Amino acid sequence: MKKLRIGMIGYGFMGRTHSNAFRSVNNFFDVPYEPVLQTICARNEERAGKFASNWGFASTETDWRKVVASPDIDLIDIASPNDTHAEIAIAAAEAGKMVMCEKPLGRNGAESEAIVDAVEKAGVPNMVWYNYRRVPAVTLAKQLIDEGRLGRIFHYRAKFLQDWTISTDLPQGGEGLWRLDVKVAGSGVTGDLLAHCIDTAMWLNGGIEEVSAVTETFIKSRKHNLTGAVEPVGIDDASLFLARFKNGSLATFEATRYARGHKALYTLEINGEDASIMWDLHDLHRLQYFDHKDEGRLRGWKNVHITDREHPYMANWWVPGLQIGYEHTFIHQVADFLTAVGGGKAAPPTFRDGLATDDVTDAVLQAAATRSWTKVKERA
Ligand SMILES: NC(=O)c1ccc[n+]([C@@H]2O[C@H](COP(=O)([O-])OP(=O)(O)OC[C@H]3O[C@@H](n4cnc5c(N)ncnc54)[C@H](O)[C@@H]3O)[C@@H](O)[C@H]2O)c1
Repeated sequence: MKKLRIGMIGYGFMGRTHSNAFRSVNNFFDVPYEPVLQTICARNEERAGKFASNWGFASTETDWRKVVASPDIDLIDIASPNDTHAEIAIAAAEAGKMVMCEKPLGRNGAESEAIVDAVEKAGVPNMVWYNYRRVPAVTLAKQLIDEGRLGRIFHYRAKFLQDWTISTDLPQGGEGLWRLDVKVAGSGVTGDLLAHCIDTAMWLNGGIEEVSAVTETFIKSRKHNLTGAVEPVGIDDASLFLARFKNGSLATFEATRYARGHKALYTLEINGEDASIMWDLHDLHRLQYFDHKDEGRLRGWKNVHITDREHPYMANWWVPGLQIGYEHTFIHQVADFLTAVGGGKAAPPTFRDGLATDDVTDAVLQAAATRSWTKVKERA
């Protein structure tokens, strides 16, 4: 089996999920490559060293440019904050490396477009870590929709609710809090949480044509961890939008970090002429399914436990009835990436798919700023 040497940038939350995925994939999936954790890159050498020994990386580096230039690396995996994605991804593509990048691909469509240009010009395999596509229940929803079981689609509904930024004392910027600093994050919950909802929605229900939106920044200024000064908050704390899909269906999307009691409540619902589907991240191994074609006396919502061998990915895990969780979605993503690359195929969501999501988030922010319906950028 061919070895694929990984150079990973960033050892935070996503650095852990990705390291776990690269380490585990060969134990559970028959894929044409063996990922090798070659180099972990982070600015703090001591902490990088601890991470390397914990996860089994062969070496550490504090400058991502050296990782990108290294002949010992085949794939650059970007798990660092949003403001670093473009520079690293473009350099990696120019160096001829495969690139995997965390979401959102860029801080805006223009940045993502430059990244897409670079990987397409270099012809290198690329993938964005929109991992929720690979929750088995969500993948099953995709199969059911593609089989035409829902019929004509009328509605799509998605929410992503959190509550961790409600305190006025919470600073912005720096380690752990870069998401509140608009210069680093690009936007607030629109690019962070809604980007997930938009990626899944377009995968399940096709492209979005136009949007109308409202955003709010509830806490207007916060102390900045890096400057020590109280500075204006530039991110959106909450973002709600209406959308019209290209297939004529209508949608509502909502994301906030001010929904007290909710930690990561990502829910989606899709209503068709013949059937409906609901899914909830807090209960991720279940798919709710209503089929209007069922016999009238027994018609009702089915609560399907996604653990059987015929369910997506599940034949590779335990025995029917036993569940898997969040971390497995990243393992599935790596498995699909390696299989696609081995077969000379694109591995969705590609960077071009990531750009499509960033085009929608750009339109949402513009619609909110101008208080008007806004067309999503059309690309050839
Ligand atoms: N797919 C998902 O569900 C998901 C979930 C969380 C975060 N993310 C995305 O993953 C990325 C990272 O988020 P996170 O939660 O892991 O952040 P984090 O703050 O936990 O970790 C970021 C890491 O990047 C490192 N870093 C920052 N600048 C660097 C540089 N110049 N060179 C090398 N390392 C650098 C930091 O030291 C840290 O180790 C973001 O783009 C975020 O949007 C995706």
